[in-house]
Amino acid sequence: MSTAEATTNAGPILRTRGVGRRFGGVHAVRDVTIDVAYGERRAILGPNGAGKTTMFNLIAGDFPPTSGSVELFGQDVTALPSRARSRVGLARTYQKSRLFLGLTVEDNLYLAVVGRDGGRFRPFRSPARDEKIRERAHAMAAEVWLEHALHMQVGSLSHGEQRQLEVGMALISRPQLVMLDEPASGLSRGERGQLTSLLQGLDPAVTLILIEHDMDVALSVAQKVTMLHDGAVIVEGTPAEIRANETVHALYLGKGNYE
Ligand SMILES: Nc1ncnc2c1ncn2[C@@H]1O[C@H](COP(=O)(O)OP(=O)(O)OP(=O)(O)O)[C@@H](O)[C@H]1O
Ligand SMILES: [Mg+2]
Repeated sequence: MSTAEATTNAGPILRTRGVGRRFGGVHAVRDVTIDVAYGERRAILGPNGAGKTTMFNLIAGDFPPTSGSVELFGQDVTALPSRARSRVGLARTYQKSRLFLGLTVEDNLYLAVVGRDGGRFRPFRSPARDEKIRERAHAMAAEVWLEHALHMQVGSLSHGEQRQLEVGMALISRPQLVMLDEPASGLSRGERGQLTSLLQGLDPAVTLILIEHDMDVALSVAQKVTMLHDGAVIVEGTPAEIRANETVHALYLGKGNYE
């Protein structure tokens, strides 16, 4: 059974309570309380420096909050390191790409599986297991529309294809909760459209939290939007509510300078 199928629907998949993080004098995240339901598509919006990535790092366990708590899958994980959180079904991408540009699509996906399964503790991988991982890599390449590029070097792919691969690398561990940090950043209009369709078509059992600067991508993928400003939640609502919200317009839409 995949972790997504093992979902129990009691309570939210993610619950933060009064989460905050200071870096010296910088209060990057302040008193953030959010609930994300199983299967939900949530977007986190906000101007540069609003605290979006820091929030992801707190949820993923890259570092602990300086106040408040984080619950995942009904369990308080505030004190758990990131590796333990990924083991229980959380996967994420990073704002800055972590792909191996000199390797093929297949090998990147292969390494994502081996890394996640703790492959470094198994120096003698059996050919049968190896074959199984390759099959999984092929299936995932197809799922993120990269079947044609399986044996291509990642550095030779378009920027959009590289972003698709990052989504595949996160999904290959079959997580229950996937967090994508600006998957559409730097993409052309056409590539953004393609990525939006890909995200819309993801398995509805997988919960998705998306940081996105691009309002069109965010509002067409998400069912609910949380907007951060100066580290705090200032607006939360459906895409329609966000479009109609005056604060959002003043801070974001009106400026027309988000990427
Ligand atoms: N490791 C760190 N050490 C010190 N300050 C940090 C650290 N990480 C983030 N910050 C600061 O915290 C604030 C929020 O940063 P964060 O990267 O979370 O914003 P963001 O909303 O993701 O911005 P962007 O849209 O530019 O990616 C910024 O002022 C940033 O400089
Ligand atoms: Mg960021």
